[in-house]
Amino acid sequence: MKLTVVGGGSTYTPELVDGFARLRDTLPVEELVLVDPATDRLDLVGGLARRIFARQGHDGKVVTTSDLDAGVEGADAVLLQLRVGGQAAREQDETWPLECGCIGQETTGAGGLAKALRTVPVVLDIAERVRRANPDAWIIDFTNPVGIVTRALLGAGHKAVGLCNVAIGFQRKFAALLDVAPADVHLDHVGLNHLTWETGVRLGGPDGEDLLPGLLAEHGDAIAADVRLPRPLLDRLGVVPSYYLRYFYAHDEVVREQRTKPSRAAEVAAMERELLRMYGDPALDEKPELLGKRGGAFYSEAAVDLAAALLSGTGSPYQVVNTLNRGTLPFLPDDAVIEVQAAVGAGGGPAPLPVAPVDPLYAGLMAAVTAYEDLALEAALRGGRDRVLRALLAHPLIGQYEYADTLTDQLIAHNREHLAWA
Ligand code: G6P
Ligand code: MN
Repeated sequence: MKLTVVGGGSTYTPELVDGFARLRDTLPVEELVLVDPATDRLDLVGGLARRIFARQGHDGKVVTTSDLDAGVEGADAVLLQLRVGGQAAREQDETWPLECGCIGQETTGAGGLAKALRTVPVVLDIAERVRRANPDAWIIDFTNPVGIVTRALLGAGHKAVGLCNVAIGFQRKFAALLDVAPADVHLDHVGLNHLTWETGVRLGGPDGEDLLPGLLAEHGDAIAADVRLPRPLLDRLGVVPSYYLRYFYAHDEVVREQRTKPSRAAEVAAMERELLRMYGDPALDEKPELLGKRGGAFYSEAAVDLAAALLSGTGSPYQVVNTLNRGTLPFLPDDAVIEVQAAVGAGGGPAPLPVAPVDPLYAGLMAAVTAYEDLALEAALRGGRDRVLRALLAHPLIGQYEYADTLTDQLIAHNREHLAWA
């Protein structure tokens, strides 16, 4: 099996390589190709990847290249994990929205729109080249904003699935609290990427007993601390929102915090410098602990599990993925991309499991953000100031004309070099 990682020079890659090495019985990777335009990073990351494989007795070959077309040739699956403009562009996304009193975040709000506009054209170009090289290859998208990017891919008819580590993170945490194996925990997970709620935690599978009420009663403080939301909110809702809901439920508090501390991009950039220095050490042959401080914990597990299911039907039968709604959430359009549990066996791709009726408290927000994502995709595909403004006006965290108008100018000014139409 040949897997290609586009954005393979990312400091995250050793996480993925470690997952491929540990989980080789689930997913036997014979050739791993890391594609990246940044040859300096590629050399460092590729070197460490080879040492991780060697240390773990994995005989898979690691190839590095800056030639995308050569890298995707013959790949069974292509993982997309790129960041257009790097941490410098992210830093901008996290900063200028604050001037209007709006959160600065790389996937949520105005910063997320900027990222979508920079990213969608690049990802669509890559996907086109993957399809030309091998129309049967699966595209697994980690590239944020995953909801909008996956919608762009599926809209263009690509064989794509969007993936995020939020659900697998909850699965691991709840399993630890319950003292069971992660694979025995089945989440009732509903929403859009980075806008999800855990409405049930079942033992054994989709029909298992719901242990969420007991978990909240016994471990509510720990769970609330983990998602950084007040415990009384979780008790009242009886569900667990992901930590991305903090940008909605505690928006102004987050803005106050963000105004007083360095951006996450600056923190991550410092970590990346340190990580790359470590990767250059020929004695290092495992993923360093420092990588655990990044938000992408367990993403290698999620990637291996999904690739195994899609390619050989060997992964977990149900996994949380980003895929077309197709009536699963009846209050959203069929072509919206939702993040839910799906049956993912080899063959036809993910088929969402039925979802119990959704409380209007969550359905309303999902519908509003879906409308925003729709307009954001329009703006990313067709460009133009008015389309950017319409998306910002539709976003429930922005909404006011004065802010939307100012943020539109800011977005364009800060991203001109990445926007073909600006
Ligand atoms: C979580 C999200 C990812 C996001 C990451 C950011 O894992 O699910 O989509 O990219 O956090 O982590 P970072 O360490 O870059 O802040
Ligand atoms: Mn994510």
